[in-house]
Amino acid sequence: MCGIVGIVGNQPVAGRLVDALRRLEYRGYDSAGVATIHDGAMNRRRAKGKLFNLEKVLDDQPLDGAVGIAHTRWATHGVPNEDNAHPHFVEGVAVVHNGIIENFSELKDGLVADGATFTSQTDTEVVAQLIARHIRQGLDNRAAMLAALNEITGAYALVVMFRDDPGTIMAARFGPPLAVGFGRDEMFLGSDAIALSPFTNDIVYLVDGDCAIVHRTGAEIIDFAGNPVERPHQISQATAYMVDKGNHRHFMEKEIYEQPEVISHALSHYVDLASYSIRPDIAGIDFEHLKGLAISACGTAYLSGLVGKYWFERYARLPVEIDVASEFRYRELPLSKDQAALFISQSGETADTLASLRYCKDEGLSIGAVVNVSESTIAREADAVFPILAGPEIGVASTKAFTCQLAVLASLSIAAGRARGRITAEEEREMVRHLSEMPRIMSRVLNSIHDPIEQLSRELSKFRHVLYLGRGTSYPLALEGALKLKEISYIHAEGYAAGELKHGPIALIDETMPVIVIAPHDRFFEKTVSNMQEVAARGGKIIFITDEKGAAASKLETMATIVLPDVAEIIAPMVFSLPIQLLAYHTAVFMGTDVDQPRNLAKSVTVE
Ligand code: F6R
Repeated sequence: MCGIVGIVGNQPVAGRLVDALRRLEYRGYDSAGVATIHDGAMNRRRAKGKLFNLEKVLDDQPLDGAVGIAHTRWATHGVPNEDNAHPHFVEGVAVVHNGIIENFSELKDGLVADGATFTSQTDTEVVAQLIARHIRQGLDNRAAMLAALNEITGAYALVVMFRDDPGTIMAARFGPPLAVGFGRDEMFLGSDAIALSPFTNDIVYLVDGDCAIVHRTGAEIIDFAGNPVERPHQISQATAYMVDKGNHRHFMEKEIYEQPEVISHALSHYVDLASYSIRPDIAGIDFEHLKGLAISACGTAYLSGLVGKYWFERYARLPVEIDVASEFRYRELPLSKDQAALFISQSGETADTLASLRYCKDEGLSIGAVVNVSESTIAREADAVFPILAGPEIGVASTKAFTCQLAVLASLSIAAGRARGRITAEEEREMVRHLSEMPRIMSRVLNSIHDPIEQLSRELSKFRHVLYLGRGTSYPLALEGALKLKEISYIHAEGYAAGELKHGPIALIDETMPVIVIAPHDRFFEKTVSNMQEVAARGGKIIFITDEKGAAASKLETMATIVLPDVAEIIAPMVFSLPIQLLAYHTAVFMGTDVDQPRNLAKSVTVE
């Protein structure tokens, strides 16, 4: 949701700003821009579309200067074009922004009434106009910045540069993340630590309400009233190599194939392989005395939570209330202190998930966060953090974060089951043994299904509509399969609980709409096969994703059957995620879409 970066340096910065933007491009790629100050002049280059367009512009018209700011955009206000690309200049003020200025319309009316002329449709330009007006009215740069910060409302990370003070960049945070990097005689600002990783790993994360005045030799952090505040330094573990595709065509492909390794790493944090038990020190939530659990998240993270609901209810007899965070935050859900709340987020910055967390915190619940980015706001505001340890996920469509979230939720539900006396030590050992075998099984599956899935994807790419069906924990997988397919291939896809088929969607079935049925040979298998029969009877084409037992038991004719090994119920959702991810991936490759950066999407959704 927009990536921002700034450098107050001692050598030319344009190349390094673009380099940092490359690591932030996953946050948005509608347009990009860079501005520097050189010999008293402030100049910028901007381009619509992906970063390489900006690089081409910079090749033709390079920028000098040892101080600069840059931006990669995910459009909110104003179409993606060059005029709306950041940095926005007003007189001697340059601004880049991630987030939304909620009161921009009334502020803009006031500025226009005062004679201001706007050159873009963005909310961001209002910030530049406000600061410029305060300077015109006699305030110094710092006072003008603070005055503007006290006028705007919304969610923002801002980085501001002043033509008359090339030794200083100012920044502010209220919502979206912002990191200050301390280099040797150079200072950096960025939306995350990975962006800054080749320059420095000495990082200070701003918190909401912080304004940083950054000089070449250090930074002063103040609140919006101008009072100094102290923020701790952290040594970031992020490295630039984390955003390398290796020998894969796309990050998404790399991240799919990384899953056995990263899940194994994640599990080692939660399970003790010597005793086949969940580590006793992971809990952080008093599962034993809980009356209920509220789970909230968005998109794919929400769907991992939905699988978690089945597990917590089944293995721990713990009632779970789950909703997408954009609804949860406004539902005014009655909650009590004997419940806990769990928030799931790869980025740890998703605005709706964070707002739901704050709602539950205000209600006095203990808060758990299942996150990938451990320095994220959601992690920082939780009472207990459950890292998923997936490593940076760069492909916009979530894959390895989903299965690592599942591995963590499976571990937590077993821990909850033990704490609540619903799982015996023997059952725990058995389930943990299955979890520990999972990475090896996943590796085998990835190798064995590559060719059949690629072949099937060629066929699937010819259809315009697809239905996914599943029951039990395969129902959230059906939703996830449909989400993955539509977001990267742009084929219209819907996921349904298999039992819901005859309550409506069956009307759509004909030979033009393949039905992908996810059905391991579990306790629901027979019922799902009955639904498949209903599809077959209406001439529907079935793509059957099942296991060896399931393939042997079903006599139905299918368009294709993908056969996985028979696996234990607790690991089936992770193993069955692999074919649905690969199917979406290869279909998108056949369609020729931009797999890692699908249109209109961004990785980290820091606005409502
Ligand atoms: C889909 C996808 C999104 C995210 C959602 C939540 O492939 O990646 O649906 O899952 O935007 O993001 P996080 O997990 O960062 O809160």
